[in-house]
Amino acid sequence: MTLAPDPRIVRLDAVGSTNDEARRLAEDGAPHLTLVAARRQTAGRGRRGRSWVSEPGNLYCSAVLRPAGPPDRAAELGFAVSLAMAESIGPEARCKWPNDLLVNGRKAAGMLMESGPVRGGMMDWLIAGIGVNVAQAPADTEFPATSLHAEGLGAATVDGLLEGFAGRLAAWLEVWRDAGFAPLRAAWIGRAHGIGGPVTLRLPRETLHGRFADLDETGALVLDSGGASRHISVGDVFFG
Ligand code: BTN
Repeated sequence: MTLAPDPRIVRLDAVGSTNDEARRLAEDGAPHLTLVAARRQTAGRGRRGRSWVSEPGNLYCSAVLRPAGPPDRAAELGFAVSLAMAESIGPEARCKWPNDLLVNGRKAAGMLMESGPVRGGMMDWLIAGIGVNVAQAPADTEFPATSLHAEGLGAATVDGLLEGFAGRLAAWLEVWRDAGFAPLRAAWIGRAHGIGGPVTLRLPRETLHGRFADLDETGALVLDSGGASRHISVGDVFFG
Protein backbone atom coordinates (compact mmCIF):
# COMPACT_ATOMS: atom_id res chain seq x y z
CA MET A 1 0.00 0.00 0.00
CA THR A 2 1.31 3.46 -0.84
CA LEU A 3 0.41 6.53 1.17
CA ALA A 4 -2.20 8.93 -0.23
CA PRO A 5 -0.61 12.19 -1.41
CA ASP A 6 -1.26 15.22 0.77
CA PRO A 7 -3.81 17.54 -0.81
CA ARG A 8 -2.50 20.95 -1.80
CA ILE A 9 -4.94 23.84 -1.32
CA VAL A 10 -4.74 27.00 -3.45
CA ARG A 11 -6.75 29.79 -1.79
CA LEU A 12 -8.03 32.65 -3.96
CA ASP A 13 -10.24 35.68 -3.39
CA ALA A 14 -12.66 36.27 -6.30
CA VAL A 15 -12.72 34.02 -9.37
CA GLY A 16 -15.21 33.29 -12.14
CA SER A 17 -15.56 29.61 -11.25
CA THR A 18 -13.18 27.49 -9.19
CA ASN A 19 -13.85 24.69 -11.70
CA ASP A 20 -12.29 26.86 -14.42
CA GLU A 21 -9.29 27.72 -12.21
CA ALA A 22 -8.80 24.04 -11.40
CA ARG A 23 -9.04 23.14 -15.09
CA ARG A 24 -6.31 25.70 -15.88
CA LEU A 25 -4.09 24.20 -13.18
CA ALA A 26 -4.76 20.67 -14.48
CA GLU A 27 -3.81 21.73 -18.01
CA ASP A 28 -0.57 23.14 -16.56
CA GLY A 29 0.19 19.76 -14.94
CA ALA A 30 -1.09 20.26 -11.37
CA PRO A 31 -0.88 17.01 -9.40
CA HIS A 32 -3.71 14.80 -8.15
CA LEU A 33 -5.56 16.40 -5.22
CA THR A 34 -4.77 20.00 -6.01
CA LEU A 35 -7.70 21.91 -4.50
CA VAL A 36 -8.72 25.44 -5.49
CA ALA A 37 -10.90 27.38 -3.06
CA ALA A 38 -12.26 30.89 -3.51
CA ARG A 39 -13.93 33.34 -1.13
CA ARG A 40 -16.48 34.15 -3.83
CA GLN A 41 -17.26 33.31 -7.46
CA THR A 42 -18.56 35.73 -10.06
CA ALA A 43 -19.76 33.01 -12.46
CA GLY A 44 -20.39 29.96 -10.29
CA ARG A 45 -21.98 27.09 -12.18
CA GLY A 46 -24.41 24.41 -11.08
CA ARG A 47 -25.52 21.24 -12.84
CA ARG A 48 -27.56 21.45 -16.06
CA GLY A 49 -26.35 24.95 -16.91
CA ARG A 50 -27.81 26.52 -13.76
CA SER A 51 -25.91 29.30 -12.02
CA TRP A 52 -24.63 28.88 -8.44
CA VAL A 53 -24.95 32.00 -6.28
CA SER A 54 -21.49 32.46 -4.74
CA GLU A 55 -21.31 35.27 -2.17
CA PRO A 56 -18.65 35.26 0.58
CA GLY A 57 -19.50 33.12 3.60
CA ASN A 58 -19.99 29.79 1.80
CA LEU A 59 -17.46 27.24 0.56
CA TYR A 60 -16.54 27.11 -3.14
CA CYS A 61 -13.89 24.59 -4.01
CA SER A 62 -12.74 22.40 -6.91
CA ALA A 63 -10.34 19.48 -6.90
CA VAL A 64 -8.05 18.32 -9.68
CA LEU A 65 -8.24 14.51 -9.67
CA ARG A 66 -5.95 12.19 -11.62
CA PRO A 67 -7.70 8.93 -10.80
CA ALA A 68 -5.98 6.30 -12.99
CA GLY A 69 -9.18 4.76 -14.29
CA PRO A 70 -11.24 4.59 -17.47
CA PRO A 71 -13.75 7.39 -18.14
CA ASP A 72 -16.77 5.12 -17.62
CA ARG A 73 -15.81 5.04 -13.91
CA ALA A 74 -15.84 8.83 -13.52
CA ALA A 75 -19.27 8.86 -11.85
CA GLU A 76 -17.92 6.68 -9.02
CA LEU A 77 -15.61 9.50 -8.00
CA GLY A 78 -18.56 11.80 -7.38
CA PHE A 79 -19.54 9.50 -4.53
CA ALA A 80 -16.05 9.84 -3.02
CA VAL A 81 -16.45 13.63 -3.13
CA SER A 82 -19.94 13.48 -1.55
CA LEU A 83 -18.81 11.15 1.22
CA ALA A 84 -15.74 13.26 1.96
CA MET A 85 -17.77 16.43 2.36
CA ALA A 86 -20.55 14.65 4.29
CA GLU A 87 -17.96 13.42 6.79
CA SER A 88 -16.40 16.86 7.03
CA ILE A 89 -19.83 18.36 7.84
CA GLY A 90 -20.80 15.65 10.33
CA PRO A 91 -23.50 13.04 10.96
CA GLU A 92 -26.29 15.52 10.10
CA ALA A 93 -25.26 15.45 6.41
CA ARG A 94 -27.16 12.93 4.30
CA CYS A 95 -26.43 12.02 0.69
CA LYS A 96 -28.98 12.78 -2.04
CA TRP A 97 -28.48 10.97 -5.32
CA PRO A 98 -26.36 11.54 -7.22
CA ASN A 99 -24.10 14.02 -5.44
CA ASP A 100 -25.98 16.56 -3.31
CA LEU A 101 -25.87 16.77 0.47
CA LEU A 102 -28.93 17.44 2.59
CA VAL A 103 -29.28 18.58 6.16
CA ASN A 104 -32.73 18.09 7.67
CA GLY A 105 -34.05 17.25 4.21
CA ARG A 106 -32.88 20.46 2.55
CA LYS A 107 -29.98 20.93 0.16
CA ALA A 108 -26.82 22.23 1.81
CA ALA A 109 -24.24 21.28 -0.83
CA GLY A 110 -24.02 20.48 -4.53
CA MET A 111 -21.35 19.10 -6.78
CA LEU A 112 -20.33 19.63 -10.38
CA MET A 113 -18.02 17.07 -12.00
CA GLU A 114 -16.40 18.12 -15.28
CA SER A 115 -14.42 15.66 -17.35
CA GLY A 116 -11.02 16.25 -18.90
CA PRO A 117 -9.00 14.45 -21.56
CA VAL A 118 -8.61 10.70 -21.87
CA ARG A 119 -5.22 9.22 -22.80
CA GLY A 120 -4.70 5.58 -23.65
CA GLY A 121 -8.21 4.76 -22.43
CA MET A 122 -7.60 6.32 -19.00
CA MET A 123 -8.76 9.62 -17.53
CA ASP A 124 -5.88 12.09 -17.54
CA TRP A 125 -7.65 14.38 -15.08
CA LEU A 126 -11.12 15.53 -14.12
CA ILE A 127 -12.48 18.33 -11.99
CA ALA A 128 -14.78 17.89 -9.00
CA GLY A 129 -16.32 21.17 -7.84
CA ILE A 130 -18.33 21.43 -4.65
CA GLY A 131 -20.25 24.29 -3.10
CA VAL A 132 -21.44 24.20 0.51
CA ASN A 133 -23.99 26.63 1.94
CA VAL A 134 -22.22 27.41 5.20
CA ALA A 135 -23.64 30.80 6.23
CA GLN A 136 -26.41 31.40 3.69
CA ALA A 137 -28.59 29.63 1.15
CA PRO A 138 -30.33 30.91 -1.98
CA ALA A 139 -34.09 31.45 -1.84
CA ASP A 140 -36.58 30.21 -4.45
CA THR A 141 -34.70 27.09 -5.52
CA GLU A 142 -36.51 24.18 -7.14
CA PHE A 143 -35.34 21.80 -4.40
CA PRO A 144 -35.48 23.50 -0.96
CA ALA A 145 -32.07 24.82 0.11
CA THR A 146 -30.60 25.57 3.50
CA SER A 147 -27.31 26.52 5.13
CA LEU A 148 -25.36 24.72 7.83
CA HIS A 149 -25.74 27.69 10.18
CA ALA A 150 -29.52 27.78 9.63
CA GLU A 151 -29.67 24.12 10.63
CA GLY A 152 -27.90 24.70 13.92
CA LEU A 153 -24.38 23.78 12.78
CA GLY A 154 -23.09 27.16 13.89
CA ALA A 155 -19.56 25.90 14.54
CA ALA A 156 -19.03 25.05 10.84
CA THR A 157 -16.45 27.29 9.16
CA VAL A 158 -15.37 27.48 5.53
CA ASP A 159 -11.73 26.72 6.43
CA GLY A 160 -12.58 23.89 8.82
CA LEU A 161 -14.83 22.21 6.26
CA LEU A 162 -12.22 22.60 3.54
CA GLU A 163 -9.42 21.06 5.61
CA GLY A 164 -11.66 18.19 6.70
CA PHE A 165 -12.86 17.60 3.15
CA ALA A 166 -9.33 17.53 1.72
CA GLY A 167 -8.22 14.86 4.17
CA ARG A 168 -11.32 12.70 3.79
CA LEU A 169 -11.19 13.01 -0.02
CA ALA A 170 -7.60 11.76 -0.08
CA ALA A 171 -8.63 8.83 2.12
CA TRP A 172 -11.70 7.86 0.03
CA LEU A 173 -9.76 8.09 -3.23
CA GLU A 174 -7.19 5.76 -1.77
CA VAL A 175 -9.97 3.30 -0.86
CA TRP A 176 -11.36 3.59 -4.40
CA ARG A 177 -7.93 2.94 -5.90
CA ASP A 178 -7.20 -0.06 -3.68
CA ALA A 179 -10.63 -1.67 -3.26
CA GLY A 180 -12.81 -0.25 -6.03
CA PHE A 181 -16.28 1.27 -5.78
CA ALA A 182 -17.91 -1.31 -3.46
CA PRO A 183 -16.83 0.27 -0.11
CA LEU A 184 -17.87 3.72 -1.33
CA ARG A 185 -21.24 2.36 -2.44
CA ALA A 186 -21.80 0.77 0.99
CA ALA A 187 -20.82 3.95 2.85
CA TRP A 188 -22.99 6.09 0.58
CA ILE A 189 -26.02 3.82 1.05
CA GLY A 190 -25.48 4.10 4.81
CA ARG A 191 -25.88 7.89 4.59
CA ALA A 192 -28.43 8.02 1.76
CA HIS A 193 -31.59 10.09 2.00
CA GLY A 194 -34.78 8.47 0.76
CA ILE A 195 -33.49 5.01 -0.16
CA GLY A 196 -36.36 2.50 -0.13
CA GLY A 197 -38.96 5.26 -0.43
CA PRO A 198 -40.94 6.93 -3.22
CA VAL A 199 -39.10 9.21 -5.67
CA THR A 200 -39.79 11.29 -8.72
CA LEU A 201 -36.92 11.32 -11.19
CA ARG A 202 -36.75 14.09 -13.72
CA LEU A 203 -34.69 12.95 -16.71
CA PRO A 204 -33.77 15.05 -19.75
CA ARG A 205 -36.79 13.76 -21.72
CA GLU A 206 -39.20 12.19 -19.22
CA THR A 207 -40.31 12.16 -15.62
CA LEU A 208 -40.50 8.85 -13.76
CA HIS A 209 -42.17 7.87 -10.50
CA GLY A 210 -41.36 4.81 -8.42
CA ARG A 211 -39.38 3.49 -5.48
CA PHE A 212 -35.69 4.25 -4.94
CA ALA A 213 -34.74 0.57 -4.58
CA ASP A 214 -30.95 0.65 -4.57
CA LEU A 215 -27.69 2.15 -5.79
CA ASP A 216 -26.13 -0.22 -8.31
CA GLU A 217 -22.47 -1.22 -8.61
CA THR A 218 -21.81 1.66 -11.05
CA GLY A 219 -23.52 4.37 -8.98
CA ALA A 220 -26.77 4.36 -10.99
CA LEU A 221 -30.08 4.74 -9.13
CA VAL A 222 -32.24 1.61 -9.32
CA LEU A 223 -35.86 2.66 -9.75
CA ASP A 224 -38.65 0.12 -9.25
CA SER A 225 -41.89 1.09 -10.92
CA GLY A 226 -44.79 -0.92 -12.25
CA GLY A 227 -43.01 -4.22 -11.61
CA ALA A 228 -39.93 -3.24 -13.65
CA SER A 229 -36.50 -1.98 -12.58
CA ARG A 230 -34.60 0.75 -14.38
CA HIS A 231 -31.02 1.83 -13.73
CA ILE A 232 -30.79 5.61 -14.09
CA SER A 233 -27.44 7.35 -14.49
CA VAL A 234 -28.50 10.99 -14.97
CA GLY A 235 -31.41 12.89 -13.48
CA ASP A 236 -32.80 15.12 -10.75
CA VAL A 237 -34.46 13.44 -7.78
CA PHE A 238 -37.45 14.71 -5.81
CA PHE A 239 -38.84 12.81 -2.83
CA GLY A 240 -42.39 11.91 -1.90
C1 BTN B 1 -25.37 21.82 -8.27
O1 BTN B 1 -25.91 21.38 -7.26
O2 BTN B 1 -26.03 22.22 -9.23
C2 BTN B 1 -23.86 21.84 -8.33
C3 BTN B 1 -23.30 23.08 -7.73
C4 BTN B 1 -21.78 23.12 -7.78
C5 BTN B 1 -21.23 24.42 -7.28
C6 BTN B 1 -19.74 24.39 -7.11
S1 BTN B 1 -19.12 25.82 -6.25
C7 BTN B 1 -17.50 25.36 -6.64
C8 BTN B 1 -17.50 24.85 -8.08
N1 BTN B 1 -17.38 25.96 -9.01
C9 BTN B 1 -18.48 26.11 -9.75
O3 BTN B 1 -18.63 26.98 -10.62
N2 BTN B 1 -19.39 25.18 -9.43
C10 BTN B 1 -18.92 24.30 -8.38
